[in-house]
Amino acid sequence: MSMKKLGLLITLAALAGLLCVATAFSQEDIMQLKDPAFGQNQRPAAVFQHDMHNEKAEIDDCAACHHVYENGQKLEDEDSVGTSCSECHTLKNQGKQPGLMLAYHKQCKSCHVAKGVGPVTCAGCHQKK
Ligand code: HEC
Ligand code: HEC
Ligand code: HEC
Ligand code: HEC
Repeated sequence: MSMKKLGLLITLAALAGLLCVATAFSQEDIMQLKDPAFGQNQRPAAVFQHDMHNEKAEIDDCAACHHVYENGQKLEDEDSVGTSCSECHTLKNQGKQPGLMLAYHKQCKSCHVAKGVGPVTCAGCHQKK
């Protein structure tokens, strides 16, 4: 093999490596939720295949979950993509802002209940492997 070809191969391999690192940090790979903000988790991680879930559930608006509130009003044209739930929702409730566990439960469960689809039991979401 010529040095030129070898150089090209190495460049390609490096690019492929970069691509893997980039996708590992995108939401495409979220398959389950185990929020480190809880510290020691009592339950198995909750099943949530981010992109596939939202596609099947036909939710186009990111702000359906990644919301922004101002003076108690949900802002229609803004979302908080990139800010984790735990950056706003502390472990304890703060007035109308539910604590972190309630925030997840309320958001996930209320929609499943309203639509009559999706898991609503503890084991339905917190599945043992
Ligand atoms: C930028 C800060 C911020 C982020 C990020 C955020 N929230 Fe909230 N959330 C709030 C505030 C403020 C309220 C209180 C709204 C009010 O005053 O009624 C709230 C209210 C809620 C409520 C109760 C009202 C409702 O919409 O049902 C739930 C449930 C909730 N958040 C879940 C979540 C979840 C789950 C995430 C992550 C996917 C999240 N929030 C991300 C700030 C945030
Ligand atoms: C059904 C609820 C829901 C919808 C709709 C949703 N997400 Fe998420 N998303 C989540 C949850 C829950 C997490 C994990 C949050 C955490 O770790 O605090 C998350 C995490 C992410 C992350 C990883 C980084 C972060 O913010 O923690 C990205 C990026 C993201 N979502 C983008 C999007 C985009 C873009 C859309 C709209 C096309 C969208 N999401 C719609 C629930 C949702
Ligand atoms: C705005 C509505 C909405 C919200 C919010 C929502 N879901 Fe769902 N979810 C659905 C719908 C609709 C389905 C049924 C989709 C289908 O037809 O299979 C579903 C199905 C599911 C399923 C079954 C498997 C699958 O992916 O289809 C799981 C697990 C699930 N949801 C977990 C969650 C979790 C965890 C959260 C909170 C982080 C959440 N969901 C938030 C609407 C929602
Ligand atoms: C619709 C899905 C859903 C249902 C139903 C549900 N959970 Fe969760 N739960 C979540 C999500 C999402 C989180 C946040 C991610 C995580 O597990 O860290 C969470 C977090 C928790 C936590 C804090 C983290 C930990 O593991 O210590 C506990 C405790 C918990 N849930 C217990 C329960 C119990 C008990 C039930 C039944 C009464 C239940 N959950 C039902 C989705 C669900």
